[in-house]
Formats: sequence, structure tokens, C-alpha cells
Amino acid sequence: MELPFRIGQGWDTHRIEAGRPLILGGITIPSEFGLAGHSDADVLSHAITDAVLGALALGDIGLHFPDTAPEWRGAGSIQFLLHAQKLAADGGYSIANVDASVILERPKLKNFRTPIRERLASALGLPLSSVSVKFKTAETVGPVGQGLSCECHAIVLLTRS
Ligand code: C5P
Ligand code: MG
Repeated sequence: MELPFRIGQGWDTHRIEAGRPLILGGITIPSEFGLAGHSDADVLSHAITDAVLGALALGDIGLHFPDTAPEWRGAGSIQFLLHAQKLAADGGYSIANVDASVILERPKLKNFRTPIRERLASALGLPLSSVSVKFKTAETVGPVGQGLSCECHAIVLLTRS
């Protein structure tokens, strides 16, 4: 049955590594450290991509873009998100809205909320009001709180186009 709506959830985490860029939603955040990963390690784009794939029940990002494949080394992760959006369109669905939380102890990200939302909204062809990005610390607890990693959770709603 073709559902009128489909909801999907995504989660991702990447290790913090000195000398790497910190890229969130396609925006490079000024920081003395970044995130380790095979691609550009854009944990936010990865979580949103998994949320779209999850809504479609089409597996996960690693199924579509294996992290052993040389062509994805250093790849800009917005392209993974656009691929998932195309799979949604192929299945007759559009993204209605996105809501995400990035959990990172530092640096402060709130000044980058608008550029990140604008970048994601523009890439996805969505109004700004359909893309929400929230930031949290882990209150010094656990690997995120100890500054070892960054996590992201995302939810998307697809509607029949
Ligand atoms: O984690 P906590 O609730 O203390 O975060 C308070 C606020 O700080 C958040 O609502 C968010 O606006 C901001 N924040 C941020 N950058 C982070 C973590 C939190 O701007 N890395
Ligand atoms: Mg990832």
C-alpha cells in the first residue's frame, strides 16, 4: 500500500580528530578539530540521509555508499542526502520537514544554525521553515561529553508528492 506519509529516523556518530575539518550540514565550522571519517564526516548530513532512507525502508547510508569505496573518500556528504531524496522522489515522495539534533560539547554552534539550515534547505529545495537543527552538549558525560565524539539524531517526514 502506498502510504500518504512515511516517517524516518537517523542517528550517526563520528570521532573527533585534530586536523580534520568540522563540517555540519555542508557548512565548515571554525574549530581546532574536526570529525574522522571516510567521507567529509558530515555527521548531520549522514543522520538526515539515514532518516530519509529509513522512511523509505531502503536500508542505510552504508548500503548505498560503502565506506570502503574509494570514490567516497573525502566525498561531500550533501550528495548522499540528495541521492536519498532522489530515491524518495522515485518512490513518489517528497520531504515535508526535517528535524535534527547535533550533540557536541564544543565549539558553540548556535551562531551557525542559520547557515546550516539555509545550506540544507537550499540543497533539498525546501523552505527554511521546513529544516530545523538543534544543538546540545552532553553535559561532560560520556564520549560526547568528554570531547571524543559528536552525535546527531534526525527525523524526517515524507509526504506523497
Ligand atoms: O547542552 P545544553 O542544554 O547546555 O545547551 C544549551 C544551549 O547551548 C543549546 O540549547 C544550544 O543552543 C547551545 N549549544 C551550542 N553549541 C553546542 C551545544 C549547545 O550552541 N555545541
Ligand atoms: Mg557518518
